[in-house]
Amino acid sequence: MGRIPPHIATVTTIILPIVCTQIHLLTKLIKIIKMNIIGTGRAHPSLTVANDMLSTFLDTSDEWITTRTGIKQRQLISHEKLEDLAAEACKNALQDAGISAEDLDFIICSNVVNEHITPSLSCIVQGMIGATCPCFDLNSACAGFIYALDIANSFFKSKSDINHILVVCAEEPTRMCDWQERSTCVLFGDGAGAAVLTRGDGVEAFSLSSFSSVEPLYQIRNLEKTPFITKKEFGGPLVMKGQDVFKLAVKSSLNDIQKVVEGNGLTYDDVDYYLLHQANIRIIETIRKSLHQDKVKFPHNIENYGNTSSASLPILLDELNRNQTLNCGDTIVLSAFGAGFTAGACLLKWSKN
Ligand code: ACO
Repeated sequence: MGRIPPHIATVTTIILPIVCTQIHLLTKLIKIIKMNIIGTGRAHPSLTVANDMLSTFLDTSDEWITTRTGIKQRQLISHEKLEDLAAEACKNALQDAGISAEDLDFIICSNVVNEHITPSLSCIVQGMIGATCPCFDLNSACAGFIYALDIANSFFKSKSDINHILVVCAEEPTRMCDWQERSTCVLFGDGAGAAVLTRGDGVEAFSLSSFSSVEPLYQIRNLEKTPFITKKEFGGPLVMKGQDVFKLAVKSSLNDIQKVVEGNGLTYDDVDYYLLHQANIRIIETIRKSLHQDKVKFPHNIENYGNTSSASLPILLDELNRNQTLNCGDTIVLSAFGAGFTAGACLLKWSKN
């Protein structure tokens, strides 16, 4: 082998290590400019509908719903408007965080459907809580809370003037269902959950995944007619292939959880709590068994609220925050999945006392 030319030797022995050190420092810097959850809140409609009530007008039973889904009751919108629930959840989260609406620099609202097509729910809620910051809605179906957290994290990294972000997930999936279709309407409930975020080092990793698969879960709505439409159009209630969704949910959730846990050098035993989208207790149990973890690490409230779409995770988080289940320093994995198919997981250290 010939001798290495001096300029190559200079690059490898002097310049390269300097560049590597710079990149390492930069990566570290990017990693530490992150966020903490400092407040949570939730709001539920006032009407409680138990399984037995459904069997008065549907060919179903408490026994079927409980064993197949884990749901015992749900809170359903009757006289409330979704924006009222969203605003209440936001106010509770702000109070828990000890800040006011004027302190907010951004609001992200996760929502699949509400009475308004425009303006966005976030704009309506912004006014109701007295905030003046920019806001927008996102629709990542039931995975919306994780997507909103990831976007918020990116804002903290990229915008130096942002210190507080409010994420609110407000959903009324019961308005998407055909209430004569027992295989869908028994699954859902309405509600809102919110979280206030600030700069910190609590949130450690995200994994987001989307792959287009419309067939298993969709709803198409009718738009206004125009004199020029020639295509055949049809709208209707939510259509779901339950078993397909079940399999996709388990697969994507396990995949995302693996990425945030093993990808960050942790084992599944290192995680204190796995907070999963509350869609079906059997989905939660399948994931828990695959990870060989104890039941206590998978808190759930699906028995009380049914599937509240993207609101389910912040509602669960708020319950655990308020009943002091979570301790400062606990390692938590959030994981959700929904129509699209969209899915995501987030690894964080709980930073509230
Ligand atoms: N009451 C009584 N019987 C019912 C009901 C009901 N409410 N719903 C369906 N059945 C019947 C069916 O008609 C079928 O009867 P058959 O055998 O005579 O044909 C039988 O029960 C079995 O139906 P399956 O669909 O095979 O039941 P399965 O065990 O798969 O459970 C369920 C259905 C609960 C929907 C399940 O597939 C599931 O949870 N899938 C995932 C759903 C989900 O997570 N959706 C939301 C994810 S995304 C988001 O959150 C928006």
